[in-house]
Amino acid sequence: MNKLTTANGAPIADDDNSISAGERGSLTFDNYRLFEKLAHFNRERIPERVVHARGYGAHGTFTLTKDLSAFSMADFLQNAGRKTDVFVRFSTVAGGQDSGDFVRDVRGFAVRFYTQQGNFDMVGNNTPVFFIRDPAKFPDFIHSQKKDPATNLPNPANHWEFWASNPQSMHQVTILMSDRGIPFSLRHMNGYSSHTLSLWNKADERYWIKWHFKTDQGIRTLTNEEAAQKPADGMQRDLVEAIASGDFPSWTVKVQIMSEAQARDYAINPFDLTKVWPHQDFPLEEIGKLELNRNVENYFAETEQVAFSPSNLVPGIGASPDKMLQGRLFAYADAHRYRIGANHQQLPVNRPQCPVHHYQRDGAMAGIECPYGGHNQSSKVNFYPNDRASEGAPVPDPSVAEPPMPLEEQAWTKAYDSRDSDNYSQAGDLYRLMSEEQKLQLIGNIVGGLSQASDSIQQRMVAHFTQCDEDYGRRVQAALKTAGI
Ligand code: HEM
Repeated sequence: MNKLTTANGAPIADDDNSISAGERGSLTFDNYRLFEKLAHFNRERIPERVVHARGYGAHGTFTLTKDLSAFSMADFLQNAGRKTDVFVRFSTVAGGQDSGDFVRDVRGFAVRFYTQQGNFDMVGNNTPVFFIRDPAKFPDFIHSQKKDPATNLPNPANHWEFWASNPQSMHQVTILMSDRGIPFSLRHMNGYSSHTLSLWNKADERYWIKWHFKTDQGIRTLTNEEAAQKPADGMQRDLVEAIASGDFPSWTVKVQIMSEAQARDYAINPFDLTKVWPHQDFPLEEIGKLELNRNVENYFAETEQVAFSPSNLVPGIGASPDKMLQGRLFAYADAHRYRIGANHQQLPVNRPQCPVHHYQRDGAMAGIECPYGGHNQSSKVNFYPNDRASEGAPVPDPSVAEPPMPLEEQAWTKAYDSRDSDNYSQAGDLYRLMSEEQKLQLIGNIVGGLSQASDSIQQRMVAHFTQCDEDYGRRVQAALKTAGI
């Protein structure tokens, strides 16, 4: 039988009774066991993620089914059949950890590939586009979606007030308000990189790429009424139980690839996150299979402390000039240093599965014993350059250098004002693709939220919908009228 000990390892004689000065007397100061218990309990929480706080993770495998060496030097994309361990975390965006699963919201779809050249994180969503195209708007956008600062309650009027001033949101708003806005489960939705990323091969040729994860379970969605009948934690239960029973969810992984020359001539800005690349121009190519096959053993250690970042890139995969992506290259690692700490990469769920050699040292909690460095990398040299390469001191490898990033236009530096960009055509295209039943749901969902906004916001939104498609605007207007608003 294991003996109960303090965290210091000393056996504990009695864990039920505090030491007191007699039956009716106060506790004494030698209750260090009690103090340790209370003090550690006070420190059990780390800050929840500022967005995507509510989430569920699982381990799995990515199997490459098509060799991509013509496009990328990334080792996990070479040789069909190759398997790579993954960790996936699904999430809602706006709600805190205490919110519910079945809300109308975008879902996070973050995939970590533990490759032999480091961790590659594809931190995507279940929608192929996003609400904004400039990271400067992100904090304002999120403030408008989260709880109202006065009431601490969700406030749909704030959502619509933000969108009314940001028509670049129309495409994503149309998706969010459509039948796709509430998935039936995490297993029944697609995932997307949404952003354009880059690939480069050994010949220094660069390609632009978008990732798509198509659910093999089929798309299933819920109406507002159906969602209201679901228990708050139903999506987590569904995922955990499916994996525990051996019913492993999977996704067929597909990509769209564009050459640099195509990007220069393409009518749509390929780095605008509010737009898709139409499939008829850039068809989806199947490259692999993602399967989730192992539940976490400890939710906090794995799902809560996993630190995904779009800046976790590997040789052969790079960023793109997408301005949102560039903002994210900063934001996530910064969040992790605050939320978890400077040495968050040493935690098992964040630790790469390949050797790690660098000259970073010390910081809070440095020295967790780990396979790549012993205690804080022991006595290894801690500066570079040095004369000790022959003794194993790490040196850079020029062969993994990314080819120079082209400027796709004449270079200038100034605040980029995209108000005049085309904010409406793809939202209109999507509306025109919908069946009558989908249109009815869309209009109903919009009116449900928009009815809580002011008259002027409603009118500005109707004007935006009209620019997407006249029928779209007319029907929202008519539905607002019928609802007596
Ligand atoms: C400039 C725009 C954005 C900023 C500044 C931003 C910032 C953040 C931050 C700070 C977190 C919390 C990270 C953590 O504490 O671990 C987060 C989480 C997340 N973001 Fe973003 N975000 C942006 C846009 C996006 C976009 C466009 C997507 C999807 C295409 C996305 C997907 C996610 C996901 C999936 C998570 C949760 C990751 C996890 O499961 O741990 N974000 N974001």
